[in-house]
Amino acid sequence: MADFVGAIDQGTTSTRFMIFDHGGNVRGLHQLEHEQILPRAGWVEHNPTEIWERTRAVIETALYRAGLHAADLAAVGITNQRETTLVWDRHTGRPYHNAIVWQDTRTDRIAAALDRDGRGDVVRRKAGLPPATYFSGGKIQWILENVDGVREAAEDGTAVFGNIDAWLLWNLTGGRDGGVHVTDPTNASRTMLMDLETLDWDDELLSFFGIPRAMLPEIRPSSAPDPYGLTRAGGPFHGEIPLSGILGDQQAATVGQVCFAPGEAKNTYGTGNFLLLNTGEDLVRSKSGLLTTVCYQFGEAKPVYALEGSIAVTGSAVQWLRDQLGIISGAAESESLARQVDDNGGVYFVPAFSGLFAPYWRSDARGAIVGLSRYNTNAHIARATLEAICYQTRDVVEAMRQDSGVTLDVLRVDGGVTANELCMQLQADILGVPVSRPVVAETTALGAAYAAGLATGFWATTEELRQNWNEDRRWSPEWDDERRAAGYAEWKKAVTRTLDWVD
Ligand code: G3P
Repeated sequence: MADFVGAIDQGTTSTRFMIFDHGGNVRGLHQLEHEQILPRAGWVEHNPTEIWERTRAVIETALYRAGLHAADLAAVGITNQRETTLVWDRHTGRPYHNAIVWQDTRTDRIAAALDRDGRGDVVRRKAGLPPATYFSGGKIQWILENVDGVREAAEDGTAVFGNIDAWLLWNLTGGRDGGVHVTDPTNASRTMLMDLETLDWDDELLSFFGIPRAMLPEIRPSSAPDPYGLTRAGGPFHGEIPLSGILGDQQAATVGQVCFAPGEAKNTYGTGNFLLLNTGEDLVRSKSGLLTTVCYQFGEAKPVYALEGSIAVTGSAVQWLRDQLGIISGAAESESLARQVDDNGGVYFVPAFSGLFAPYWRSDARGAIVGLSRYNTNAHIARATLEAICYQTRDVVEAMRQDSGVTLDVLRVDGGVTANELCMQLQADILGVPVSRPVVAETTALGAAYAAGLATGFWATTEELRQNWNEDRRWSPEWDDERRAAGYAEWKKAVTRTLDWVD
């Protein structure tokens, strides 16, 4: 009897495999980090072979530790860092190049060129995305132009593109020995190549980047009653299990937070912050710097869309304090250090390491710490870092209010940084809205499990999933309106100091 559903969560810094029971409780888990390859300023790569090896290892270890086997799993879902781009040889399984990570800015000229001749507006209209280095289309173009032999191989169907979901699915279903080449609309909606209305690759968009259609995966629903494929007995599961759910990680967290009704929103605090607002079957076009994206497509049902505010650097700013500045020894210390002071001492930190994403979309921005005086200490820098996480979220919430007219009455949060109690209190203070964290904070993996388990009937309806959501902790705003307004005005001033930095 299969009492559990498994989920692979392949993120920017680590890969985990999680096993959930019917109540959405965690029954098993293993997680491994992988190398961040930084060949030059602004470039970020991952080794796809290392990611596949880590994936195998976390699956085998989590199952072993939980004392479970393939027969105990009713289905497996995949969720992944989105946009990160790789191209591999379907006959050998060898990647042509390292994966180019979503944070990588090497394609800034490709993105800027789109806006010089009107193509950018076509991308905005069809794909719902502003031209930016963030998305996959420019990264595929870069690989086609810079890696010997790839263009010819792409045209004859040998070289294939995938985001990490497609790479893992292909390997799990047999790789060069018959692996399936499939993605879902949430991942495809981050490429600049898919039309949001047809949910199909669009020839005009493909022509902008010179991408042959033959190299693209088939787009199938995020929750697939007819599974994409079965895991291979020779693979890490040592048995055949339906692979029936794929969601990009932020959409997965939205599902894991059971944001199934229009107007429901969640904010995930990981490497970056990603705030998604469910807009139902309506495709809301942003006028305020947000992305329009597919939230999920379950089976034959119509797709559900979302507005998204993507922020590139939040949790990674805390890592930067640890790894580059050396002023803390671990993430938890960012809280104890910041608690040594009552306020930011006038210091604002805008961590525009990859330019600024939503709602600014300025690849010419670079990070700045402003307002420093002799009085300031490491504690003020730590506090300004936590505030930066929250102010960037405020920027996105303001944009969402403008685009959708929706005023949040509560913000559902998840992700690693939500363990930082001071940061969550600051988030409530800076937004003026309560912040609520669920008991199961692993909402990303949970969402992928939900997509896979809904497909096979392990869970019957989304209503059933709502019963699994329980609040763990709520933070209410403590700042008065005057303090909130003054802080936000200073933050906006700090942001202006980061713009026009790169030519
Ligand atoms: O769009 C990028 C996002 O999917 C990355 O998420 O959790 O790996 O930082 P995460």
